[in-house]
Amino acid sequence: MSHPATFRLAGVMGWPVMHSRSPRLHNSWMQRYGVSGYYAPLPVEPGRLEAALRALPALNFAGCNVTLPHKEEIVRIADHVDPAAKAIGAANCVVVRDDGSLAAFNYDVFGFMEALRAQAPSWRAAQGPAVVLGAGGAARAVVYGLIAEGAREVRVVNRTLERAQAFADEFGAAVKPLAWENRAEALAGAMLLVNTTSNGMVGQQPLDISLDALPRNALVNDIVYTPLETPLLAAARARGNVAVDGLGMLIQQARPAFRDWFGIMPDVTAEERAMMEAA
Ligand code: ATR
Repeated sequence: MSHPATFRLAGVMGWPVMHSRSPRLHNSWMQRYGVSGYYAPLPVEPGRLEAALRALPALNFAGCNVTLPHKEEIVRIADHVDPAAKAIGAANCVVVRDDGSLAAFNYDVFGFMEALRAQAPSWRAAQGPAVVLGAGGAARAVVYGLIAEGAREVRVVNRTLERAQAFADEFGAAVKPLAWENRAEALAGAMLLVNTTSNGMVGQQPLDISLDALPRNALVNDIVYTPLETPLLAAARARGNVAVDGLGMLIQQARPAFRDWFGIMPDVTAEERAMMEAA
């Protein structure tokens, strides 16, 4: 057995969490990069996040990921919060510092942007309007990321228009709130379409949108990754758009977390990507 000081621990706190694919990826990286340790699923009930997090230093954890339903609460608990997490009001990564304090980061933004770049290296946020379907937690990270990357117009289309309007108040004049019934027209001239609603997910209702007005050189990204090829992505591909699946964001957000904990920025092999798809 390794000495506890050199056996590195991390994990993901969520509820439920046993279905998470993150342990496979981090444990594969640990093996591949020679980090002796383990990344565990950590079921933490609502209301017990703070107690669980404060136990991390005593347990010798390097840190952990935080997923639903804890992503917002972590921002209130952490001793240090990075600017993106502050602006979004949600974080997904915690790093235990040497003094035992907890630093929270939002790497969903990084994951989203990197997933786009992996499929379309020349894509730039400033190239043209983006359309974001939905105005929930996932949309907050996407809209923040697009504006931080220089997007000048982000059309936020939401079933509840007030939530889209609140995005404009918060993230500035680049956000154009639009009603759900205008979603098809909203695609005119857009360079990016992102679905952040649960529409199209296994067991949910399908995403009902006509892509006719969307330019064929626009990127189409679905945050949903069950199924991997959502009907939106299939329709986009069929008409010639580059489609970016939602697993890319999940995989990419893990890289800077691993770097912060273990000092190595990992890459993703084809085998690891296939393993995540199959999980
Ligand atoms: P998350 O944090 O995962 O983004 P959320 O905060 O519950 O989840 O947000 C879900 C998003 O999907 C919201 O924008 C929601 O629209 P409302 O703000 O009107 O609730 C959107 N959504 C969910 N079901 C939908 C449906 N059937 N049609 C259109 N939009 C839907």
